[in-house]
Amino acid sequence: MAKRRIRPAKAFRGILTLPGDKSISHRSAILAALAEGKSEIFNYSPSADCESTLRCLRALGANIEEKGSGIIIEGKGLSGWAKPRKTLDAGNSGTTIRLLAGALAGQNFLAEISGDGSLRRRPMRRVMEPLRQMGAKIEAREDEFAPLKIEGGALRAIDYAPKVPSAQVKSAVLLAGLFAEGETIVHEPVHTRDHTELALREMGAAITRQDGAVRLQGRPKLKARQVAVPGDISAATFFLAATLIVPDSELIIQGVGLNPTRTTILDFLAAMGAPVSVVALASRDGELTGDVNVHHAPVKGGKISGALTARLIDELPMLAALGPYTEGGIEIRDAKELRVKESDRIAVMAENLRKMGAEVEEFPDGIRVGGRAAGRLRGATIDPHEDHRIAMAFAIAGLGAEGETVIRDPHCVAISFPNFFELLESLLKAPNEK
Ligand code: S3P
Repeated sequence: MAKRRIRPAKAFRGILTLPGDKSISHRSAILAALAEGKSEIFNYSPSADCESTLRCLRALGANIEEKGSGIIIEGKGLSGWAKPRKTLDAGNSGTTIRLLAGALAGQNFLAEISGDGSLRRRPMRRVMEPLRQMGAKIEAREDEFAPLKIEGGALRAIDYAPKVPSAQVKSAVLLAGLFAEGETIVHEPVHTRDHTELALREMGAAITRQDGAVRLQGRPKLKARQVAVPGDISAATFFLAATLIVPDSELIIQGVGLNPTRTTILDFLAAMGAPVSVVALASRDGELTGDVNVHHAPVKGGKISGALTARLIDELPMLAALGPYTEGGIEIRDAKELRVKESDRIAVMAENLRKMGAEVEEFPDGIRVGGRAAGRLRGATIDPHEDHRIAMAFAIAGLGAEGETVIRDPHCVAISFPNFFELLESLLKAPNEK
């Protein structure tokens, strides 16, 4: 069984660029396959999850060519997809299965979609319910879990309020809304990531947002386009945290996606006292990008609840593992959703933080991790339970621990960030290291 060893670090410095944003990559590929003409997507995420989306789109008849760090997709139009010969395999990717469920709901054929063991345990009724209301026939194991059998057809526009704040549910409804006549409306009190809306607007769809309601006019003709995917800000989080853990650290992260629905992590770190700044802000293909600078400083800690929890959802594993390096610790509440991610992230964070000697209290909807006063973390053997964000969060936490931290099954980082460990090592050995 492969393992990665992490030793205490003295400095963490450098200038880096990150792989393309995972959420934007999934959407740009799915929408390109529904558009008419050839789209070119530069800096497409090299993650296994985004590869799962391409594998499914190919099985649905899309022509996809890989070109350097980008891809070219020949769109088939809204109704040009072909019935797949086998069950579509979404791998570990919740975004792939839920977004494709929306697009499959509008097709004139029956398709089955499933994924790995973790994905088959994740809740799917949240997308089945609105898609059924729109007219799709969907069957699922125990009426909740993949494999999903989706028989698409003529869809009705709906006015829908998801029960949990979820960009995946919103996107599934909007993708199905492309096939319905009239206006599909999704209400969301918490403004979740809006990459689907921005991409649809760029491609010529009539889509607006007002007072928390997203309105999409159905049956648009989507224009193929060229799009450059910005660096993944959720991947940046691990390195931002590393500079706050390791003394004498400084980083410049270039070309990161700075969509305001994703930058809550920068605001939260800044509110804790982290010297984070953004320069060279620019708008590209409908999305904001820029460079993020940060250097080491002691941070206070804080509480994350309500809308903040939803907006930091992918950053919570790193924030929990940063807890022992903050003055007052980190408390996360209203985070039941973390229990149905790639792993039960609350339980897996608690288990591994305890192994490292952190002070941990687990709640049904969250976790509290004690700050510096509870003592320095000790290196331990971490079991990430095949969850990429857990593996990366604990690799970073290990940089400040006493002794060696061992990450079991480190290959799982490839789900979102295949070159994570290489980049980490290059920053520890940077030429300007003191
Ligand atoms: C994502 C939305 C979030 C997030 C996931 C990616 C997306 O999930 O956790 O990693 O690309 O839409 P939910 O929609 O379930 O909150």
